Amino acid sequence: MRLVLVGPPGAGKGTQAQFIASHFAVPKISTGDIFRANVSQGTPLGLEARKFMDAGDLVPDEVTIGMVQDRLREDDAAEGFLLDGFPRNVHQAEVLDELLDRQGLRLDVVLELVVDDEEVVRRLSGRRTCRQCGHVWHLDFDPPTREGHCDRCGGELFQRDDDREDTIRHRLEVYAEQTSPLIGYYGDLGLLRGVDATGPVEDVTERAIAALHRFGD
Ligand code: AP5
Repeated sequence: MRLVLVGPPGAGKGTQAQFIASHFAVPKISTGDIFRANVSQGTPLGLEARKFMDAGDLVPDEVTIGMVQDRLREDDAAEGFLLDGFPRNVHQAEVLDELLDRQGLRLDVVLELVVDDEEVVRRLSGRRTCRQCGHVWHLDFDPPTREGHCDRCGGELFQRDDDREDTIRHRLEVYAEQTSPLIGYYGDLGLLRGVDATGPVEDVTERAIAALHRFGD
């Protein structure tokens, strides 16, 4: 299955991506995770991306598209993939279509996770991520038992630099202006399925898998 997850920051794309990717046995490819790994390793790509990420802006297409092209050429993506955070604007979507088309392939489905802005702010301001294993927690909705430490590996939890309330609001504006046109783009292509992404994580996973099952099971 070739799947794109779309939705505002904090909709739960990363949280759901791991369950959906594992259910359908495809690799999860998250541009945000790839950028953050580069930032923490201090690579030239990370240094370039960081200024945009910290401000809540999109990293320029010329940086992002090449990175995704390279990742999609890896062997594990040959039979399918789940893209989380890419495409992020209509230009990226057109390039992805061309890239797949050149190989005689196309996307099977685009899943939109639907939540409102206030829920996004609640989710992102309480998000904490493990520095060691990358697991994502939430101070209210999914708290670790020991404050500041990951239950899975004992690693230190941190708050992302772009999860400050003013930056979250800016990211929502960027989403509305640059990313939400993808809903119309994929709707016109007949690829879009939407699910309500509110409520417990397991319920959202169940709804997502039900919406996707005819494309992958
Ligand atoms: P990216 O990492 O993709 O950020 P995002 O899209 O803003 O999404 P988030 O990771 O913030 O949220 P999420 O939807 O994954 O939610 P999560 O599952 O963590 O990108 C970061 C930056 O990289 C961008 O701003 C940009 O600069 C750059 N970038 C990335 N891709 C790019 C591209 N293609 N082009 C250009 N630039 C790009 O959940 C959030 C919180 O809510 C967690 O604490 C979680 O535990 C909690 N939660 C999840 N589900 C539920 C639930 N059902 N109920 C209660 N709490 C929940």
